[in-house]
Amino acid sequence: MRGFEGKVAVVTGAGSGIGRALALELGRSGALLAISDVDVQGLAETEAQLKQIGAPVKADRLDVAEREAFLLYADAVQAHFGIVHQIYNNAGIAFTGDVEDMAFKDIEKVMDVDYWGVVNGTKAFLPYLIASGDGHVINVSSLFGLLAVPGQSAYNSAKFAVRGFTEALRQEMLTKQRPVAVTCVHPGGIKTAIARNATAVEGLDPKELAKQFDSKLANTTAERAAEIILTGVQKKHARVLVGADAKILDLIVRITGSGYQRLFSTMMGKLVPGSH
Ligand SMILES: NC(=O)c1ccc[n+]([C@@H]2O[C@H](COP(=O)([O-])OP(=O)(O)OC[C@H]3O[C@@H](n4cnc5c(N)ncnc54)[C@H](O)[C@@H]3O)[C@@H](O)[C@H]2O)c1
Repeated sequence: MRGFEGKVAVVTGAGSGIGRALALELGRSGALLAISDVDVQGLAETEAQLKQIGAPVKADRLDVAEREAFLLYADAVQAHFGIVHQIYNNAGIAFTGDVEDMAFKDIEKVMDVDYWGVVNGTKAFLPYLIASGDGHVINVSSLFGLLAVPGQSAYNSAKFAVRGFTEALRQEMLTKQRPVAVTCVHPGGIKTAIARNATAVEGLDPKELAKQFDSKLANTTAERAAEIILTGVQKKHARVLVGADAKILDLIVRITGSGYQRLFSTMMGKLVPGSH
């Protein structure tokens, strides 16, 4: 793809799924990569594939929820490449369970990774992105950052928060005329390990939930998702919807307003794993 030649791009959660597909497509497009993950084995595989492509790559274990580590990491990436243009705050986890059944710590864990991970990455890299003169923050929310469904309150909270944070940041960058584009990404169901890596409240079987997600909801490949996201980045779009499901459901929410909740509590309950 055009427009990424010579760009230094940071991708979190690059050891699997969308993160790996983004890193590889960026590498093929001439970008230099700083990739990270908590899963060092998955990360090493992505690193090896990038080396095969011939893309310069710096790979590090990083837990996006660890703020101090993220700040040090940003300094290290800047020191390594001398400049940083783009950050893809992509790392994320999923958790299924009703509010009644969840412990506070279950909700906090999702917020720590899916929301604070994005805030940590954005704040840590923003000064460097501004200094580059051509920066871009790409934050991965979800279709579930546009609509809520039963059984996903923790994930919904984090992904709605990512959207609010990202949309405010975009306006700040515009108002202050900072050279930083900001894009919020809302994927629908993507064929990745997300559901297989997910956890759930006691009484729900994560393996069964993953089976349902993989067979019923994940329709877009990670590679296609990466292409759609990078096209949106090229065009500096504010919002990128990934997949027909994301587009259709976004439209339904905009047409029905809060009415979608009545519709989905019956309809989505049958589709979304664990949501009754
Ligand atoms: N797959 C989907 O259907 C879908 C839909 C909407 C949004 N998303 C979002 O896309 C992003 C990527 O997910 P994916 O589908 O590729 O899932 P995935 O499980 O295949 O990949 C996520 C990666 O993030 C890493 N990760 C988890 N916790 C981390 C942490 N604390 N620090 C660093 N890395 C961590 C995992 O090890 C994994 O390699 C996530 O933010 C997810 O919420 C996915």
